[in-house]
Amino acid sequence: MTPTVRVLDDAETAAIAAAERLRELARVALQRRSRFTLAVSGGRTPEPMFRALASGPAGLESWSSWQLFWCDERLVPPEDPRSNFGLARRLWLAPAGFPAENARPIRTDLPAGPAADAYDAVLRSFFGAASSPTFDAVVLGLGPDGHTASLFPGSPSLDVTDRSVVAEPNPGQPPFVPRVTLTLEALGRARTALFLVTGADKRGPLARILGRAGTSPDVTLPAARVRALESVEWFLDRGAADGRAPEAGTGDRPARPPSS
Ligand code: 6PG
Repeated sequence: MTPTVRVLDDAETAAIAAAERLRELARVALQRRSRFTLAVSGGRTPEPMFRALASGPAGLESWSSWQLFWCDERLVPPEDPRSNFGLARRLWLAPAGFPAENARPIRTDLPAGPAADAYDAVLRSFFGAASSPTFDAVVLGLGPDGHTASLFPGSPSLDVTDRSVVAEPNPGQPPFVPRVTLTLEALGRARTALFLVTGADKRGPLARILGRAGTSPDVTLPAARVRALESVEWFLDRGAADGRAPEAGTGDRPARPPSS
């Protein structure tokens, strides 16, 4: 599957475009099914996307049709500024009046192993025990080392194919607290994987993942191994995309890798 790449003028514009794309995916999902299932990541990059989601309308229905999960979590309390759930709650869920029962955070009051087992049980209970979760969309970021969710280069978690959720006791990047993460297998069952990547510090790994002209993606970087059932979509700002001019309009486009 060839990913699509959209380059927006700056981080704010890229985040707003990503939020708009999620609303569009929600509209499509709600036309086909009765719900929109979404898993989000953490880090600083999605902050403006969460604010954009809080300030606009939801899909065809309302937030009550959105079912929210997390791609990964740092094992800190929700009030801790490093909490992925806490960030989304502060910037999106609380201001938007998102129904608390539709948000399923990863437990952080357990050690990483049991927390991963508990979240696996949450997914099985929601999606059905017989199959892997099928999210309508997952929102992912990119670390400077090429990690995504809490899947770090060289981690044994990358080769797990029989679980949807695993513990990552030793993350390769800060914050150095134990994590819980969806596996590549679970992410790959999403209909759409949407990467939001902004800032010049992401330019190097991004070029290796999308592949420079004539080269293949570097699959030692975890983000390069993410697949999806229908589409993999990259939303970038010019900083991450090596200063190229913003593309006008909206919609999917064939991948044109950064040139660095
Ligand atoms: C996390 C993540 C992680 C993140 C990237 C990008 O919880 O740390 O989900 O994969 O998306 O590290 O982080 P920034 O947006 O802070 O650069």
